[in-house]
Amino acid sequence: MKRLLLAGVVLAASIAGSGPVWADPVEDTLEIDGMPIVTQTAAPEGHPFDEVYSGWLFRSAETRDLERDTFENPGMIAVEDGEAMWNTVMGSEGKSCASCHEDASVSMKGVGAHYPKWDADSGKPINVELQINKCLTEQMGAEPLPFNKNGQRELTAYIKHQSLGMPVELDLTEGDMQSWWDRGKDVYYTRTGQLNLACASCHETAMGKMIRADHLSQGQVNGFPTYRLKNGLTSLHQRFRGCIRDTRAEQPKAFSDDLMALETYVTWRGTGLSVETPSVRQ
Ligand code: HEC
Ligand code: HEC
Repeated sequence: MKRLLLAGVVLAASIAGSGPVWADPVEDTLEIDGMPIVTQTAAPEGHPFDEVYSGWLFRSAETRDLERDTFENPGMIAVEDGEAMWNTVMGSEGKSCASCHEDASVSMKGVGAHYPKWDADSGKPINVELQINKCLTEQMGAEPLPFNKNGQRELTAYIKHQSLGMPVELDLTEGDMQSWWDRGKDVYYTRTGQLNLACASCHETAMGKMIRADHLSQGQVNGFPTYRLKNGLTSLHQRFRGCIRDTRAEQPKAFSDDLMALETYVTWRGTGLSVETPSVRQ
């Protein structure tokens, strides 16, 4: 515990202090199987940065190369598992996702670029994971998928992959999306934990800094679920929780109001970047 704390203090000092080096995002362009991917673009109005950058620009040349080619991308195995699930009958109604939505490359194209979106039934924003659960329970007579289990990441990756290359854009005018955005912004700038760090401390103020072996990016979400070379396929709320754990704060539950608000706000911070799912990160 002492050692952990010490490591934490060193980390906090290295973020705040002048210690480690800064490095700009690399100048490189990404095409995936010939499709152009926007990894850098002008930020939307009201954004703290002039330009938004994909996390891809902060990774090593080897890691970047893995994402250029779907045959090399280790995350594509998960996408194939998701495709198999899409076509599998689940629940008491004897239906698969394909029974209603047919060819995902048509019906799901663009869907992943516009989530989270307003869900009038629950009076909250809904993300792809929760929309899958909604269909499972309300359309198929099946059990909802527990967080990160039973193919939730794979099916989410499969759906988001259908929007590969399309620009992220949320509709904040629907329902109460704007107030969830406001709440997410509060969470983003609130310092928490023993280290007293906010998301913004690392991904805004210290963007470009090297901490340990990591080059701090803007913490964009356009590649999720992402394939992490050290952890495998990683869902967005798992990543949020990991970052919060690193500040030694209590972690909100996946799909809790705080994390849904954060997902709404952070997705907006990446407006205009292409969907990269499954992106490859370290
Ligand atoms: C019995 C028909 C039916 C089945 C089976 C079904 N869905 Fe749906 N799905 C719908 C309907 C109706 C909607 C739109 C209303 C809503 O939001 O629930 C929808 C909406 C969606 C959306 C949102 C699309 C958008 O444009 O925002 C996604 C994503 C989705 N379904 C995924 C799935 C997945 C994954 C499965 C399999 C686990 C599945 N659905 C199974 C009927 C179905
Ligand atoms: C102590 C510093 C620190 C804090 C605080 C922090 N993160 Fe991170 N985060 C990292 C590091 C390091 C990485 C991996 C390198 C990178 O992409 O920046 C990362 C990665 C991410 C990624 C993945 C980016 C990608 O391209 O795949 C997201 C999303 C993210 N963080 C969101 C958040 C959010 C939201 C918060 C606040 C709840 C937060 N982070 C707080 C250090 C931090």
